[in-house]
Amino acid sequence: MQKPLTERILAYLEALEASGSVSSLKLAQEFKEDHQKVIGAIKSLQSLGSVIQTEQDSINTLQVTAEGNLIIENGSHEVVIYKKTPETGSIPLADLLSSVSETVGKVGLSKAVQLKWIKVESNAVSRVVTSVVDTIQQTLKEISAGSSNATEETLGDLRRRKLISASAQTYLIIRRGQDFTLNIEKLETELTLDILNDPDYEKKVFKPYNFNALGQPVKAGHLHPLLKVRAEFISILTEMGFSEMPTNRFVESSFWNFDALFVPQMHPARDVQDTFFMSVPANCNKVPGDYMEKVKKVHMDGDYGSLGYKTDWKEAEAFKNVLRTHTTAVSARVLHELGQQETFQPVKRFSIDRVFRNETLDATHLAEFHQVEGFVADRNLSLGHLIGVMREFFRRLGIDQLRFKPAFNPYTEPSMEVFAFHKGLKKWVEVGNSGVFRPEMLLPMNLPSDVRIIAWGLSLERPTMIRYGIDNIRSLVGPKVDLQMVYDNALCRLDKQ
Ligand code: PHE
Repeated sequence: MQKPLTERILAYLEALEASGSVSSLKLAQEFKEDHQKVIGAIKSLQSLGSVIQTEQDSINTLQVTAEGNLIIENGSHEVVIYKKTPETGSIPLADLLSSVSETVGKVGLSKAVQLKWIKVESNAVSRVVTSVVDTIQQTLKEISAGSSNATEETLGDLRRRKLISASAQTYLIIRRGQDFTLNIEKLETELTLDILNDPDYEKKVFKPYNFNALGQPVKAGHLHPLLKVRAEFISILTEMGFSEMPTNRFVESSFWNFDALFVPQMHPARDVQDTFFMSVPANCNKVPGDYMEKVKKVHMDGDYGSLGYKTDWKEAEAFKNVLRTHTTAVSARVLHELGQQETFQPVKRFSIDRVFRNETLDATHLAEFHQVEGFVADRNLSLGHLIGVMREFFRRLGIDQLRFKPAFNPYTEPSMEVFAFHKGLKKWVEVGNSGVFRPEMLLPMNLPSDVRIIAWGLSLERPTMIRYGIDNIRSLVGPKVDLQMVYDNALCRLDKQ
């Protein structure tokens, strides 16, 4: 049986003079082994300490392309054309071209004419010389065998014709190290009881620890990218002093989803276009009665200095169950609870969970997505505070260029859309929606009149798709998700400053 490659390499070094060196490429040739195998053996010798010394270098090597290999087999295009031309007389050009492949016809004909091997007269091709030498084929054969001494000019020509390609190959140069030996002992990897009981244990040589080893990938469940980004959002918001709201109510009454938020009952968003109405159970059981009366009043007749909508307001409409269209329904419930407190306490709350909208499905839209929403409730907050909180929140997400644009929401006044500068796309993209909750929403909840609530919302999918370079939402959510993608994607670490 042949000795292991490591031992053959050591024997090779032994045979050289003490300071002699050899390259891994040469060893691969000598041993008729794959170069990568030789590199592997050298790496394992390296791990033994100073048995050998290594140095890395690289050379440009030439490879014959697939087209070049065809020429090695059949001859160069110009020679093929020459051979198809009769020794005497001529062949119609069309016949000649139809007897060869398109590349051979195109390149070979003009080359052979250029070399004055053949001539084309009134669409007939005839020979000019009586014999030709296929130098191209010859050179390619030599390059393929690694023994070419072709001039730069010839090589340049072959490269231009895409018959050869050049690439850099790295290799190792090795020589004997200060602990050079021919007898490599198998190194011990573990200190066991047997070794300790062995009187010779002190003589055992242990393999050094490789602290840079990556370790085995863990075979376990993996978090979906949305959950990884969510975890990052949760930690950012928690660090900013926000606490999470309960979001377990996917089915919500129109009352909390719309009416409590001063969304008029004839608002287009309530339309079946955008909202999924529940068939079973179609209606909710209860809504806090006195609060509902206040909401009804502010919608129909106005209150607290507001004119209201001056339209009819139907309890039956408010009781209709929907799949919540935004997490602002969650905020509304929590704010109503705040209004029931004996004394108002300032709070910062957030939520991240699913919402549902009847959208036209495409590469970036599904009928459900996750919203990240937050609010700060305190006395005397202003739009300046909202801008400040937005800047801080997005700065922690690694986004520091923000712009605000006036917008409209039925429940906030003023309202602002938030735009961030996307460095990759080199343009401003919408990243969220925000505003100061209206008194028509807060005062019926019993919140003190000087309490202001600044709030904002954004989607979780958008930053996730950007962060993980996913361009189709269907690769992120739904039956087409590739589990390997979930397995392979790294933890989410946003560039928090
Ligand atoms: N509910 C809004 C949306 O769905 C987001 C938002 C939340 C806007 C809070 C303002 C205040 O887009």
